[in-house]
Amino acid sequence: MTVHFIGAGPGAPDLITVRGQNLVARCPVCLFAGSLVPREIIALCPRDARVIDTAPLDLDAITAEFVAAHHAGLEVARLHSGDLSVWSAMGEQIRRLEAHGIPYTITPGVPSFAAAAAALGRELTLPGVAQTVVLTRTSGRASAMPSGEKLAAYAATGATLAIHLSIHVLDEVAATLIPHYGADGAVAVVVRASWPEQIIIRATLSTIGARVRAASIERTALILVGPALAARDFADSALYDANYDRRFRPSAENVRGRE
Ligand SMILES: C[S@@+](CC[C@H](N)C(=O)[O-])C[C@H]1O[C@@H](n2cnc3c(N)ncnc32)[C@H](O)[C@@H]1O
Repeated sequence: MTVHFIGAGPGAPDLITVRGQNLVARCPVCLFAGSLVPREIIALCPRDARVIDTAPLDLDAITAEFVAAHHAGLEVARLHSGDLSVWSAMGEQIRRLEAHGIPYTITPGVPSFAAAAAALGRELTLPGVAQTVVLTRTSGRASAMPSGEKLAAYAATGATLAIHLSIHVLDEVAATLIPHYGADGAVAVVVRASWPEQIIIRATLSTIGARVRAASIERTALILVGPALAARDFADSALYDANYDRRFRPSAENVRGRE
């Protein structure tokens, strides 16, 4: 018996991986993490499966479900939104499984920052503009930020920031970032990326607060910040440059040299 952690993707039901979909369709027990896992994915469970929304459960109750399934010899599909490597609470569940000697697998999912970038139609790393994406958040009720992880420090690099779990403190976020990206710095808020009710707001750091307030947005939104969101006059990458010598596409000059 194995617990299969599965990234359910950002919301569109067809953005789960094929492997994840097959596991959900096969496992007789399914635990899913609340409202961000689409019901169309839950509907893939076998008809007689035990299906549990873990939103009202604590870690002990979730562990009890894993242990009961283990004793019954039943495989478990454990679904979390987006990908499992960020803000999924998978780490603490794995620790419990290991303590009980219960095996597990991990199937990654499409993270929400990738779905938000797709919704915006932007690449977050552009040559000469931004070559780093910082996935971060601000302190919340459930998790304080470690003292060294400061938004201002990330902003000082000029990288593209993907700020999660922070739409409720957008004004503070914008005030922290303006000294680094400028009041005209490009920012986008993407709400429920890939869901039918997706909303996109593009603005500057000085205007985003009012725009988001006007739209009454309070949750499930990503704040993306950085020059890559607006840049148009960036250089082409070397990857497809005719004079760039690659293993599978030697430059014209080197082909002549090899002849
Ligand atoms: C608990 S975290 C889960 C992150 C998830 N594991 C991932 O890979 O993106 C929830 C936060 O992720 C962001 N988020 C998750 N799904 C989203 C979506 N479809 N659109 C925009 N933001 C989303 C929001 O910032 C939300 O507050």
